[in-house]
Amino acid sequence: MSQPLPIQFQTTDLDALAGAKGRLAVLADVGAPLGPVLKRLDRLTKGAVARALASQAFSKLKPGEGLDLGFPSGLACDAVHILRLPKRTDAATARKAGAAAGRAHGAGGTLLVAEGHPRAADLAFGLALRAYEFSTHKSGEKTTPGPVTMMVAKPESVARTAAPMAAVAEGVFFTRDLVNEPANILTTHDFAARLAAMQELGLEVEILEEDQLIKLGMRALLGVGQGSESPSKVVVMHWNGGKKGEAPFALVGKGVVFDTGGISIKPAAGMEDMTMDMGGAGVVAGVMRTLALRKAKANVVGLVGIVENMPDGRAQRPGDVVRSMKGDTIEVINTDAEGRLVLADVLWYAQERFKPTGMIDLATLTGAIIVALGHENTGVFSNNDDLCNAFLKAAAAEGEGAWRMPMGDGYDAKLKSRVADMVNSCGRDGGAVTAAQFLARFVKPETPWCHLDIAGTALLKTDSTLAPKGATGWGVMALDRLIRDRFEKG
Ligand code: BES
Ligand code: MN
Ligand code: ZN
Repeated sequence: MSQPLPIQFQTTDLDALAGAKGRLAVLADVGAPLGPVLKRLDRLTKGAVARALASQAFSKLKPGEGLDLGFPSGLACDAVHILRLPKRTDAATARKAGAAAGRAHGAGGTLLVAEGHPRAADLAFGLALRAYEFSTHKSGEKTTPGPVTMMVAKPESVARTAAPMAAVAEGVFFTRDLVNEPANILTTHDFAARLAAMQELGLEVEILEEDQLIKLGMRALLGVGQGSESPSKVVVMHWNGGKKGEAPFALVGKGVVFDTGGISIKPAAGMEDMTMDMGGAGVVAGVMRTLALRKAKANVVGLVGIVENMPDGRAQRPGDVVRSMKGDTIEVINTDAEGRLVLADVLWYAQERFKPTGMIDLATLTGAIIVALGHENTGVFSNNDDLCNAFLKAAAAEGEGAWRMPMGDGYDAKLKSRVADMVNSCGRDGGAVTAAQFLARFVKPETPWCHLDIAGTALLKTDSTLAPKGATGWGVMALDRLIRDRFEKG
């Protein structure tokens, strides 16, 4: 399992610059006078640094971007990244600058000279997040990443600010590892076992097996998994860091370890991406890990429905009618609209058992949300403006794209079934909204609720600011901040 890079903080030592190996990263700004670090590097490189700073290329950089001097003569390092970062800047820009250094981090190690920059901890966080690699299944020589050293004015103080960020980075990495893992490794059993292992961190973890799910009446969830050799499970993770007996906040995740579509089978092209269909559950797990690591002063319960959607002689058919735990019946028009069937039962169970003060579910629920928003924003659906706005604010502060989508009775009316209380699929138009309306039928009116459709944001085919291509861990930072802002202030 990937761990974030350990980062050593020390005071600035100008004499160490010439001999630094691997990558050297320094901060500069357009029009700002050279400080002692840049002056020393400029002298050692016989003016190459000053020339770079005076170049067109540097003047065109946005804050947080950088340019590289490769194999500079006069220095032992193999590249100097000159990062454009104004002294007064927000956290997201500082993370971006750190990430520019993290992207190139390799076996040779990185020395980042941040001097007295007020966002030094954010620089470290960005570097750590971007240096993530998923190389578990690569054979051959593995490059172990080298050490990261940061030179800062006040090492102890920066280390103290960076400590809770390390907990967040570890949560993000846990999510990314789960989402990147192929489905023959991350079976329902393996997924549940990785969650159970978090008991070491002080989380209480319960695994509900199929016999218990039958007793609870979760026939909507069970129907999805009945064509798979891997048994369906619901895992409940408790973090009780808040007041004793106070109702928790609930996080609910879709954990489809592989989505073939079932009997309504998906086309072959691109089906391999459906290893990420447990992304919602992955984010819930990552947030719970972060809360435990930083000993959050809040009561939060994370519930995930873990199933595999396979075609088989015992698989659910189109036309089948299942009864949910709530009691409502569902006509399964399309076995590929399985996420909502899983969530219906887990959402209901979460409310019946915990009476949560609020509830947020995450799911790679629809291709339609990708048509609507692309890969820049998660679709946000809610029955409660206060919770929704608080979430949107937290997401914006963390630089995680989120956009509210509409809901309404007109969309809900599409769910009418000839033979049951509702259908699970009603055509392409507004597909992300009708999916959300389906979920809303399993949310009690008194429960403030948000649904996050992360189908477009959980995994990217291209590198992003804070992650290499693959799983992003989108949402861990925003949810951690929401919990901090809402429950841990004052
Ligand atoms: N897991 C998919 C949605 C998805 C698509 C996630 C692309 C990530 C990338 C979901 O289970 C699904 O198949 N949804 C169907 C619903 C339809 C049958 C109503 C879809 O979006 O096509
Ligand atoms: Mn599906
Ligand atoms: Zn799915």
